[in-house]
Amino acid sequence: MIDYSKMANGGLPRLKPYQAGKPIEEVQRELGLSEVIKLASNENPYGMSPKAAAAAKKAVESSHFYPDSNAYYFKQALQRKFGYDPACITMGDGSNELINLIFQSFVNPSVNVVLPELSFIVYPMEATVANAEIRTVPLKNYFVDPQALLDAIDENTRMVVLANPSNPAGTAINIQELHDFVRKVPEQTLVVIDEAYNEYQTADYEDTALWIKECPNLMVCRTFSKAYGLAGLRVGYMVSNPEIASLVNRLRAPFNVSAPALAAAIAALNDEEHLKKVVEGNNRERERYAAYCKERGLEMIPSSANFVAVDFKTDIDPINDYLLHHGVIVRPVKGYGLNTILRISIGTPEQNDKLFAVLDEYLHAQS
Ligand SMILES: Cc1ncc(COP(=O)(O)O)c(C=O)c1O
Repeated sequence: MIDYSKMANGGLPRLKPYQAGKPIEEVQRELGLSEVIKLASNENPYGMSPKAAAAAKKAVESSHFYPDSNAYYFKQALQRKFGYDPACITMGDGSNELINLIFQSFVNPSVNVVLPELSFIVYPMEATVANAEIRTVPLKNYFVDPQALLDAIDENTRMVVLANPSNPAGTAINIQELHDFVRKVPEQTLVVIDEAYNEYQTADYEDTALWIKECPNLMVCRTFSKAYGLAGLRVGYMVSNPEIASLVNRLRAPFNVSAPALAAAIAALNDEEHLKKVVEGNNRERERYAAYCKERGLEMIPSSANFVAVDFKTDIDPINDYLLHHGVIVRPVKGYGLNTILRISIGTPEQNDKLFAVLDEYLHAQS
């Protein structure tokens, strides 16, 4: 028998498969439950804008044609809303694809990649496949530490990648600190800021994508999977200087974003009212999580996203199992020696009520 893993490229055989959250139907089937809620994948519980849904449905009807591979109208809509030059945009089938394209374009076994501890799991996966050295930088109280990232960079550092707000911790770096950090990274080191949860931030925020004019090594990734509610349609984009965009675009598969996804994304961008409703709903519920945790003496890591990470200071598996057996799917945070944190996606008020009730049952049974 041939050992096919010997034929695989780079570090692929060393890679552990990505563990997606369990689908609702699977939990219903396996545990014989009729009502199950999923608070595990940081999806938008309010759904997409009705205008986006209508635009996607209309685009399905002409989907015997290929989509516009250059996403002309989408880029025009972005330019109108944020002022980005269309030459600076790379389209992704979700921002995951953009991260994959960035690593394929720039990372190889002879360079190192600097990542904060507790990074979004896809970054170390991509670096492993590329067989690059990974330099992991400790967090400060679950916050990314820009100075520590700078200290880890050397002349061989091809890229530093961070999510802001971060996942799974949910913390956001102060915008001035982030700006200072990006300015200080040497030009030969690329900086990727992954802003999947950017719309949920409440602290002072500047549009980081506009910094590419002064920082040509900066790449900013955004997604429509979270606040815009298009996770199942798969749309993301990257803003970078035009030369980087032109390089990454060469690797991008033609027609990587479907016509219904593009149509929905344009309509979603233009429906500011829906976005506002989603973000306000999320942030109100985030406050409820903070109050719930405070009342019960639980440590909630300060969140700027659509999920909260709660450190129960005890083995998380029994709590996770209890929630699962009572119809609530959440996500335990594992890795880096951690086994005490649960990441809970913020649901609708009713979904959060259910989580609070089930968790209370568990906590009372323990006391
Ligand atoms: C930090 C971060 N980046 C990127 C993604 C990928 O999102 P998508 O590929 O749906 O755009 C996620 C998804 O959870 C995420 O948490």
